[in-house]
Amino acid sequence: MTPYLRRAILATIAEDGSNVAARLAGQHGVSRQSASVWLGKLKQEGVVASSGVGRGVRYRLATLAQVRQVYPRAELHEDRVWSEAIAPALRDLPANVRDIWRYAVTEMVNNAIDHSGSEQVTVELQRDALNTTVYVADEGEGIFLKIQRALNLYDPREAILELAKGKLTTDPARHTGEGIFFSSKVMDAFDIHSGKLHFMHDEWGADVLLERPADASGTLVLMRLANDGGRTLQEVFDQFAAPEEYTFAKTIVPVRLAQHEGEKLVSRSQAKRLTMRFERFQTVVLDFDGVEEIGQAFADEVFRVFQQAHPATALLPIHMTPAVENMFKRAMRA
Ligand SMILES: Nc1ncnc2c1ncn2[C@@H]1O[C@H](COP(=O)(O)OP(=O)(O)OP(=O)(O)O)[C@@H](O)[C@H]1O
Ligand SMILES: [Mg+2]
Repeated sequence: MTPYLRRAILATIAEDGSNVAARLAGQHGVSRQSASVWLGKLKQEGVVASSGVGRGVRYRLATLAQVRQVYPRAELHEDRVWSEAIAPALRDLPANVRDIWRYAVTEMVNNAIDHSGSEQVTVELQRDALNTTVYVADEGEGIFLKIQRALNLYDPREAILELAKGKLTTDPARHTGEGIFFSSKVMDAFDIHSGKLHFMHDEWGADVLLERPADASGTLVLMRLANDGGRTLQEVFDQFAAPEEYTFAKTIVPVRLAQHEGEKLVSRSQAKRLTMRFERFQTVVLDFDGVEEIGQAFADEVFRVFQQAHPATALLPIHMTPAVENMFKRAMRA
């Protein structure tokens, strides 16, 4: 079995554990019997487990490492959590993957220590043959409510737009507001759940706001990364740095996040909400993906009023529909 075939089989199982032999046979042009031999080998190796028999057999990726630690928050240090609980389970991974994990785990644990006010911090890890998933949970105030309160936002959902922009901190004396921005982008999947709200960075690179019925008290962060991922921490930092500089100078803002359930972006107050803190960046890429149209006052406020007040910040709109582009051009001509 080549490494390529092995990974493909494991990915098929991770996607769906039922009818695996038949699906593999179809995908690879082999008989079900040959596919069953592959599955038998992976079971013997211990990376795949199964339950049930005959046609009802279900496969899943075996858990190869599992950690759960609950710490009192007082006097906890993120480096200690990393080296005691997480690093030992990841020792054999490639250096680029370990570096990413060290960064993201210490950032998220530091957040729970410095911002949550929780009594305890829980850290969990699960590793299988393809991915590692780490959870960092606290029972504090909850991230979105904390940001809403500190920034005096009308709706906790606006906290997600602020997190997506980056450089958001409620403690500027001791923090810079980079931890979540970069941790979310180095992971394959990143999800902060608090109350009914989720801030997710999905595997296609988009920042998403989700509302789900399940309530999380405090703040729960889930991070997932492939064990053989090719990304490096440095290349992600570089994407958001100005050329020849190493500082966080550029951001990409999903404009869609300023638009709550079907509302249209028409008013100056919506535009002010969107452009809040843009002046902290040299470049703001405005990603209009998912935005069908914008109103004249909104466009004027962003592209003329804000721009004139803050000429040092370059605004670069992308993924505009023809309707959005018309409003953009009109504001530029004014
Ligand atoms: N576990 C948490 N509980 C409550 N609020 C949180 C939690 N984690 C983060 N926050 C809030 O989210 C903000 C952004 O977090 P982020 O890690 O991006 O930046 P920071 O911690 O302020 O700065 P840096 O990470 O650069 O030190 C924090 O300032 C804080 O208000
Ligand atoms: Mg932080």
